[in-house]
Amino acid sequence: MLLREFIRFNVIFLSLINEVRVRKVLILGGDGFCGWPTSLHLSDAGYEVIIVDDFSRRKTDVELEVESLTPIRPLGERLRVWRDVSGRNIRHVAITIGKEYRELLELLVSEKPYAIVHFAEQRSAPYSMKSSSHRRLTVNNNLSATNDVLAAIVESKLDIHLVHLGTMGVYGYGTTGMKIPEGYLKVQVEEDGEIRGREILYPSNPGSIYHMTKAQDQLLFAFYNKNDGLRITDLHQGIVWGTQTSQTRRDKYLINRFDYDGDYGTVLNRFLMQAAINYPLTVHGTGGQKRAFIHIQDTCRSIQLAIEHPPEKTDRVKILNQMTEIHRVRDLAKLISDKTGVGIAYVDNPRKESAENDLLAVNDQLLEMGLRPITLNEELLNEVEQVAKKYSSRCDQNKIPCLSRW
Ligand SMILES: NC(=O)c1ccc[n+]([C@@H]2O[C@H](COP(=O)([O-])OP(=O)(O)OC[C@H]3O[C@@H](n4cnc5c(N)ncnc54)[C@H](O)[C@@H]3O)[C@@H](O)[C@H]2O)c1
Repeated sequence: MLLREFIRFNVIFLSLINEVRVRKVLILGGDGFCGWPTSLHLSDAGYEVIIVDDFSRRKTDVELEVESLTPIRPLGERLRVWRDVSGRNIRHVAITIGKEYRELLELLVSEKPYAIVHFAEQRSAPYSMKSSSHRRLTVNNNLSATNDVLAAIVESKLDIHLVHLGTMGVYGYGTTGMKIPEGYLKVQVEEDGEIRGREILYPSNPGSIYHMTKAQDQLLFAFYNKNDGLRITDLHQGIVWGTQTSQTRRDKYLINRFDYDGDYGTVLNRFLMQAAINYPLTVHGTGGQKRAFIHIQDTCRSIQLAIEHPPEKTDRVKILNQMTEIHRVRDLAKLISDKTGVGIAYVDNPRKESAENDLLAVNDQLLEMGLRPITLNEELLNEVEQVAKKYSSRCDQNKIPCLSRW
């Protein structure tokens, strides 16, 4: 009797230790620009990682006739090389989230992940505004994907923490005259001579169909949190810059993607690549737009911090502003121009947006959790030298201008 009790205690103890030590995480969109380095970062940190990705991003490259500036390898090869250099195994499952619901549900039930990181959305604003079919594709893909993930967590009856990548763009890029808080706004309403206070979701003001899907995602999260008690963290991420992380640097076959084209290239990485080939930096309009930024390595660290600081079951959706610096676009262009000697070309702004805006935002929560940001000044030139210049012969200059207009 005593021996049986002893064995039972040991089995429970060992399984608890195992659960704490090897936590399983699904990375939806783990073959993409943010998802790939995050998968390696979490795998390196001891998590068991499963990537779910349908390669739709690689198919879009074929549609747009453009390739990542860096020569990215097929996912199977990336995973084999990661196993060789790290001794760690990452699995891949090809599911189109938002279409293959049963497969997604079965995956949750069989793998019982501790957390899900959701990157699997069409993420380019210009792409989402190219035509009505691109608008429809973006809405159908993004909203169905997010709703299916939430519905599958509920149906699985598992207590899975969902960490979603949203965008600072949901707040809009007007001038508010105040610091944008982390997701919720304190308001006061006067009623019958009495002032009542409450906190509401910060009013969204999307500037493209893509941003609109991220604003809608927020409502889905609020509903599933209230109705089904799901634990959700929504990361309102700034524009990601940089390419490599300490894990992707470990072998040339692990290199991350680098988009420079007019649809998927984000402003700072485009400037870095343009500086590398001495192509005048394409500033849209007056360059008076202020935007929030974060380095790709800090994206990975922030996601680990978010996983390790989950909300309680009774908490509302936890919203963090995942950004580390704010800059005006023309100041960035000048900084890079001064450092590299390349000129600046002011071109018509293809977007419907304020020519000049001010942006102030709070990012206290991630800093309190321990994020120590990489700053622009530290890494900028390394990026030009070690990535953009190295692969500059792969650049198709016809793909640099932003042709999508709205
Ligand atoms: N890159 C940035 O600067 C930035 C900034 C703010 C927020 N974000 C957010 O972070 C997330 C990831 O961005 P990214 O730059 O890595 O994008 P990405 O396009 O490089 O990666 C997205 C990945 O998801 C996959 N995917 C898309 N829809 C899918 C579906 N329905 N089923 C399965 N797989 C699917 C794609 O194949 C791709 O590999 C996006 O949701 C984006 O909105 C990115």
